[in-house]
Amino acid sequence: MNEADSDEMFLHLSARGAVRTDNLDEADAVLINTCTVRDHAEHRALSFLGRLCKWKRQNPKRIIIFAGCAAERLGKQLKKRYPYLNILSGAKSIEQFDQTLAKSGLFSPAGQPAAQQTGLFAYVTIMRGCNFNCTYCIVPSVRGPIKCLPAADILADAARKVKAGAKEIMLLGQTVNAYQDGSTTFADLLNRVSDIPGVERVRFTSPHPIYFTPQFLAAVKDNPKIAHHVHLPVQSGSTKVLQEMKRGYTREIFLEKVHALQTAGFEISTDIIVGFPTETEDDFALTLSLVDEAKFIAAYCFKYSPRQGTPAAQLKLHDEQTLEDRLDILLNKVKDLAETAYQRQVGTTQQVLMEEPHKGKSSTNFWVQTGLDFRPGSVVSCKIEKAEGTLLFARNEHD
Ligand code: 5AD
Ligand code: SF4
Repeated sequence: MNEADSDEMFLHLSARGAVRTDNLDEADAVLINTCTVRDHAEHRALSFLGRLCKWKRQNPKRIIIFAGCAAERLGKQLKKRYPYLNILSGAKSIEQFDQTLAKSGLFSPAGQPAAQQTGLFAYVTIMRGCNFNCTYCIVPSVRGPIKCLPAADILADAARKVKAGAKEIMLLGQTVNAYQDGSTTFADLLNRVSDIPGVERVRFTSPHPIYFTPQFLAAVKDNPKIAHHVHLPVQSGSTKVLQEMKRGYTREIFLEKVHALQTAGFEISTDIIVGFPTETEDDFALTLSLVDEAKFIAAYCFKYSPRQGTPAAQLKLHDEQTLEDRLDILLNKVKDLAETAYQRQVGTTQQVLMEEPHKGKSSTNFWVQTGLDFRPGSVVSCKIEKAEGTLLFARNEHD
């Protein structure tokens, strides 16, 4: 989401003549787009901002913009701590970024934004914010409640990106499958984006388990352009912890959703938090057994990080050693998920979107090497012959 937001902010800078560079020495301005979901992310952004002090001293006309979720959380105190910071733009104000730049008086007046560059992939933001209140999570407070973009604007944005060369569209939102615009549901939107001429594949991230209903599956499962991979954060395998996290589902309901998705041909990856304050050894064991049961293709694992102002931040923390130990055990368990999942694909037929002449990604998100060369951007039907590590090898006709 931050990459998509950064691209959007950059459009407003480009309308004022900015061009991108990765070289700090030749830059006149730096835009730092920040995350605050865990303390570590915020820390990295602030330490980068601290290091920019010297860069700014070399030429006081240089401009520093600090944007996104950490900017929203820390607000004006940042200007006191870092007096050389020029522009603060919190996550809730991304849609006003143009006015923020205009008001700063630091840039020339806006003209036309630069033509958007895109490779085979493009992000399309469909909603911002979140209406849940998971007790560990800072997102609702820094991003605010859900705001769905009008379906017509989303379709126009996707069509523009396809015209600029994109073949795969990734729809983005904090709880992306909560999308609703009038009578247009998330499933309708997926189907309509996939109907745009030139679209080969549509992905989305991140959904919330509770919105995966039988009606949703019925509406999308036969659409071959909708990627058959879902990143579905579970967070914990213990119903008790899930309740304390206010996730809105039990272990059993989550597993039911996973199995329904898998039966419809989807592969699942997930996010897991270890060491939530009330998590006991037994709760943690339930997370480990859920990993076995759910047959994820990947799991991103995080140590619980207390976020100021969230309900869980009031609870007594586990000691660091417990967090480290649990994370180690879990990482050890999830490290082989991908290889096992790749092995499961042998003998299946996969639709592969080519990224290089002989390598591409399946709809289920596996890397596939083809026997013959194909045009990047084309979709090729591949019979999987073998798996080695995290690469599938396919046989194609005329091989
Ligand atoms: N501590 C650790 N991990 C967190 N996440 C969200 N909030 C926290 C927190 N306070 C994780 C969740 C989420 C992912 C984006 O970040 O697993 O799915
Ligand atoms: Fe945070 Fe996701 Fe829960 Fe929303 S649904 S509060 S973004 S973890």
